[in-house]
Amino acid sequence: MKIDSPRSRLAVGLLLALVCAMFLFTRAAIANADSLTIAYTGNLEGHLEPCGCAAESDFGGLDRHAVWLDRLRAERPEMIAIAQGGLLTGGGVTERIKAEFILRGFALLNYDAIALRWPDLAFGRELLAHTPLPWTASNWRGNDWALTREIARGGRKVTFLSWLDPETAPKTTGGAAIYPLDATTISLAERIAQARKEGNLVILAATGDAASTGHLPLTGVDLLLLDATETMGEPTRLGETLVLHPGKWGMHAGILDLQVDAQGRVIAWQHRVASLGADLGHAPRMADWHAAYTERVRAASRERVAVLRAQRQGETGPFLGAQKCQACHPRPFAAWSSSRHAQALSTLERVNKGFDPDCLVCHTVGFNRPGGFIDTGVTPQLAGVQCESCHGPGREHVQEGHDKKMPPTADQTEALCRGCHNALHAPAFEFKHFRRRGIPCGHGDAGTP
Ligand code: HEC
Ligand code: HEC
Ligand code: HEC
Ligand code: HEC
Repeated sequence: MKIDSPRSRLAVGLLLALVCAMFLFTRAAIANADSLTIAYTGNLEGHLEPCGCAAESDFGGLDRHAVWLDRLRAERPEMIAIAQGGLLTGGGVTERIKAEFILRGFALLNYDAIALRWPDLAFGRELLAHTPLPWTASNWRGNDWALTREIARGGRKVTFLSWLDPETAPKTTGGAAIYPLDATTISLAERIAQARKEGNLVILAATGDAASTGHLPLTGVDLLLLDATETMGEPTRLGETLVLHPGKWGMHAGILDLQVDAQGRVIAWQHRVASLGADLGHAPRMADWHAAYTERVRAASRERVAVLRAQRQGETGPFLGAQKCQACHPRPFAAWSSSRHAQALSTLERVNKGFDPDCLVCHTVGFNRPGGFIDTGVTPQLAGVQCESCHGPGREHVQEGHDKKMPPTADQTEALCRGCHNALHAPAFEFKHFRRRGIPCGHGDAGTP
């Protein structure tokens, strides 16, 4: 059939008209639906700011977080921002200060809802009570936080619910639950049903473990926000529910564009991952908050140093410093002196972190251990990553005529390196690479003292 015959022209015309009509029809259906943007992040786990140790992990921090959210809100004022909690962690020398500033910093981000997680209670309910944040815990008994959060935006309503896993609840040494929790899902199911009846979009935050047991009522849940995993995932489907897999440590965030019908059901979605990298720069509105944080850590460090200095008695600690190894091990010493390990404390000073316990632990010798680094005033000989960061304290080795063997053995070496060159601080670290080059410790070729 010739393409320019009148009959075929008519057929092509009709076909085109049909395609156009179908296109317009679907467009109209989608245009009829409401669009809704949801920005979400996962468990921060104490990552107030990125450490800057390696380009590959230089993401996140509440400062960049603010830049990103401000830009997104300027673009889409009706956007809703939700977070999986787990903002805090326990342990660590500065965790209490950091916790306080994470809460204060998060308050500046204006999230619409945050799912309470057990680590958020690391310092008790009192700490959370100081800073108003939109915490949500739907199976909590009591009025410490909202059980349900209703967010109305642009004529659309969203109900945010959150399930605290009773399985992992903190317990007293006697095994009793510390916090009042409803372990049954009856009222959660009722809240979901109620929200659906009102035509709301329903979001539930829960741990992956709780969701996978089949115990949670997911019927009627439009979005399920899970706990973060190391790398952020694309949304998946679980029956009718769209499951969100946020990433850890606030390095990346998700943006979900939804088309929602009149009954509040999701009819189409698009997802993107935003990386909170150095290109975002700083948010001027976070500057005071950050300066106050730095000042508090510095002040706490001063107090800590004063106490440790008073406790320290002479130079009898187990760590000696590299200088004491030089005479007998000139080659390792020379190689080490010119390695970056030797400069590790100056690196911290360059970025105004020479006092931060969070950083000193990997950038000095024996920090937070008896006889280890305190500060450059008290223990200048233990600055930077040195022989004893890898070989352990050397006093006995030197005093006891070297009878005291020094670790590591060949099979301990990789684990030793990875203690500091870990997934967060050196994601690109390749042990084999250093092994092949014969410089597992910056000594030039191994084998010669
Ligand atoms: C106590 C913590 C610690 C241990 C243990 C450690 N490193 Fe490092 N390493 C560092 C720090 C901190 C730096 C960054 C120093 C700087 O630039 O200020 C670094 C830097 C390096 C560098 C230079 C940067 C690069 O990626 O090229 C190499 C190579 C290296 N380490 C290899 C090793 C190897 C191999 C081991 C195990 C034998 C090891 N390190 C064990 C803390 C450690
Ligand atoms: C768990 C150990 C660890 C901790 C904790 C740690 N670092 Fe590091 N840091 C490293 C390692 C390992 C490297 C070398 C990374 C590489 O080059 O591959 C490094 C490198 C660096 C560098 C050099 C980056 C460059 O390429 O010039 C800076 C700056 C730095 N760290 C700052 C910090 C700050 C600030 C903190 C605290 C907030 C911190 N580090 C905490 C292990 C650590
Ligand atoms: C980053 C970790 C690291 C640092 C820093 C380091 N070493 Fe080592 N060193 C090692 C490892 C790992 C080995 C074992 C080599 C292997 O894998 O067989 C080793 C081996 C040695 C040996 C055995 C002989 C040899 O060369 O293989 C001596 C001696 C030694 N180191 C002394 C020192 C002294 C002295 C310093 C400081 C001036 C130092 N090391 C700094 C990790 C380190
Ligand atoms: C007075 C000399 C002397 C001093 C000081 C000394 N060493 Fe050694 N070290 C030796 C001798 C000798 C050996 C070899 C022992 C052997 O071959 O059996 C040795 C062996 C080592 C080894 C290889 C593993 C082992 O235990 O045999 C390491 C690692 C090591 N020394 C680290 C250090 C470090 C770190 C320091 C500083 C804190 C240090 N040494 C200070 C004399 C010294």
